[in-house]
This record gives sequence, structure tokens and C-alpha cells, in this order.
Amino acid sequence: MREKLSGIVSGVDFLNHSFIQQPFPVYAKLRENEPVHRLLLPSGHYAWMVSRYEDAVKILQDGRFVTSPPHQGQMGEKQPPHMEIISNNLLSVGPEDHQRLRRLVQKAFTPRMIEKLRGRIEQVSEGLLDKVLASDKRDIDLIEEYAFPLPIIVICEMLGVPLEDQDKFRIWSNTIMEGVSNPQLSHKMDEVMKSFVEYLQQLIADRRKHLKEDLISDLISVEEQGDKLTEHELYALVFVLIIAGHETTVNLIGNGILAFLEHPEQKRLLMEKPDLIQSAVEEVLRFNGPAEVSNIRWAIEDVDFYDNMIQKGDMMLVALSSANRDSMQFDEPDTFDITRKVNNHIAFGKGVHYCLGAPLARLEGEIAINDLFRRLPDIRLNTDPLLLEWRPGMIIRGLKRLPIAF
Ligand code: HEM
Repeated sequence: MREKLSGIVSGVDFLNHSFIQQPFPVYAKLRENEPVHRLLLPSGHYAWMVSRYEDAVKILQDGRFVTSPPHQGQMGEKQPPHMEIISNNLLSVGPEDHQRLRRLVQKAFTPRMIEKLRGRIEQVSEGLLDKVLASDKRDIDLIEEYAFPLPIIVICEMLGVPLEDQDKFRIWSNTIMEGVSNPQLSHKMDEVMKSFVEYLQQLIADRRKHLKEDLISDLISVEEQGDKLTEHELYALVFVLIIAGHETTVNLIGNGILAFLEHPEQKRLLMEKPDLIQSAVEEVLRFNGPAEVSNIRWAIEDVDFYDNMIQKGDMMLVALSSANRDSMQFDEPDTFDITRKVNNHIAFGKGVHYCLGAPLARLEGEIAINDLFRRLPDIRLNTDPLLLEWRPGMIIRGLKRLPIAF
């Protein structure tokens, strides 16, 4: 049992540069002193942030906390049509629709389908590293040249969206992720969403006329017990897959390589025993996972939690990165140990919204990290670690750049 709460940590600015550069000591204080922390979201609403592992798991698995606002207007004024379309996605619909959508999607997104991609992911990885090695440069930004393009090429091919549109997606998805944490970008975000939805409408209309061997065609055709995805659900799903494909695995690779460069004995161990790659990827996910917090949950009733403080309609955020460093759950949580035996991290969430893309992200991470160390065995950090910059915002934990030499 933890001792009685000893004090409070108030006024944490989660968008502040110094927090983003070094969040873990602050999370440790929150876990110890203020495990349910009241914070002001960039939207102007208050939410409770939960930072302990045990509480995080409870909230994510408790049906009284849902990802859809309990009543219209909870998040402010009525949304424009393109925003409403996108809100039909897995992470925003109510529990019944979620179950339905998940059942339909799972069918086209099976682990078997993901395993079939192994050969192609290896080819993409080798191709990117061939290009790096063919140039005269012996120093690069690893994010730009490898960690970013690898998952993008894979998700674009998987969905069947033209790779030449990837620059557009990158700008759109970056604006959307920044916009979520910065209300000043709301106008720009609105424009981007509109262009994104128009793009998807055109793409899906074209694909309906000519179905192909790709995920969008599968999603158009998928049917289960007479049920199908509606047009809007289809747009919303492809939207979420493109955003997730852009914003997450890049940081699994980037954060992972950084962890190894900062822990050379772990890099040596993995290079000697590449079979450790699965537990190595799990440890990267725990130690510095790409999803810093969960999506918002709303309480649909008063919940008896820490002195009855959660009321119906309250918003909750689960600090996944914090839960994954909780010493009540993990031995020596701040140690990066790729041989860790017990590692039930929640970097992919928990419960009904558990990450749909987890098998894909894991496979990409495993291939990317092992290939990189095999092809660039002398890889080293090409900057002072204190000069590394993390991307702004609360949702994604990832580096802006990772300068390496080899
Ligand atoms: C290392 C990479 C990734 C991480 C750390 C990650 C993390 C997460 C987390 C934490 C959630 C749950 C959020 C919540 O409960 O509020 C989630 C959900 C989801 N993720 Fe991922 N993700 C990753 C990669 C991907 C990829 C590559 C895709 C697809 C291309 C994807 C698609 C999704 C979808 C569709 C959901 C919503 C599932 C649902 O609501 O039922 N993710 N992800």
C-alpha cells in the first residue's frame, strides 16, 4: 500500500517546454502526491489526469468512462459538417457503435493480414537504408530519413492511397495533432480537416468504382451479419488510420533508437542477440512510448474514486507514460532493460479501445530497430542529448529530429 498522500503538485503546465523535455520527474511527483490531478485543457475545459498504473487500468476498463461526450454541446458549439463526419470514428462514437465498428473493422485488420506484410516492411526498411548508405553523408536526421517514411509507406500501401500524396498527409496530420493542444490553430485545423475529408470523399468514391487488393477496398466490402460501415464511418476510419499511421510508429522507432543510443550496453546486447527484439520493443513502449496520454473519457455517472471526487460529465485523461513508470507496477521503472520479464505496459491502452494497430506497430518496430543496428552497427548520437527537442503538445511523445552519425 502507498502511504497517505503527502502533499500536492499544483500548477503543472503540461504544454510547457521544460515539462515536455523532462516529463518523468513531474509524473513521479504526481503519482506520489496528486494521483488525480485537475488540469485545464487547451480547449478551456477542466479534466482529471490519472497518473498511477492501477488507476489508469481501472479507468480504461470501466464502462462508466466513455470516449463520446454524454450530450451534444459538451465540447462547445455545434461542429461543422466535416468535423461531424470525422467524429464517427472508433475513438469518438458511443459504446454500442464502437462495438459494431470494431467488429466490422477487425475483420479487415486481422493479425494474419498484418503478418502478410512482413516481407514488404523488410523491403521498405532495406530500401530506405540502402539510400542512406548510398549517399556520401555519414550523418543524418534519423526521423526524416528512416523513422518517418517507413510507417508512412507501409500504411499508404496497405490502405491503397497514393504515396505521392504523403507530403499532404504529413502537413495535415501535423497540423491536426498540434491543433488539438493549441486553440490558436483551430482555424487552420478546421481548414485542414475540410481538405482531408474532401480528399477522402474523392478517394473512396474512385475506389468504389474500381475495387482493388487493399484495405480501403476491404473496408468498402466488409460486411458482418448484414451490417456494413456507413459512408461517414468509412471516411472517419480511414482518417484515423492515416493519422495513427503518421503519428505513432515513427516515434516508436525514434524513441526506441534514442533509448538504445543512451544505453549502449542494451544496444550491444540486442546486437549480440537480435532474438531479444520482441521484448526490446515492449520495453521501448513502456520506457518512452509514443502515446503520452489516452483520449478523453467522460464519466457517465458519479464514480466513487478518491473520496468520491469524479462527477457525472467530468472529463478524464489517463497518463499512459506515467503509468508505465509506476514503481508499484514495475521493478526499477526508470531503468531501460530489454530483458525485463514482467512488462504489462499500457502503451497501447487497455480495454475496449485497445490499439487496433498494435500488431502492425510492433512488427514495424521490430523490423526497423533490428535492421538499423544490422546495417549501421556504429550508429551514434550526433548531438548533445540535452539539445534534443521533443515535439510540442500533450498527446504524442516524439522527437522533432534525431541527429545520428555512423
Ligand atoms: C507504437 C505505435 C502506436 C501506439 C503507441 C498506439 C497507441 C494507441 C492507444 C494508447 C490507443 C487507445 C487510446 C485510448 O484508449 O484512448 C490506440 C487506439 C487506436 N490505435 Fe493505436 N497506437 C499505435 C499505432 C497505431 C497504428 C499503426 C494504427 C493503425 C494504422 C493505430 C490505430 C489505432 C486505432 C484505430 C485506435 C482506436 C481503437 C478503438 O477505439 O477501438 N494505432 N492506439
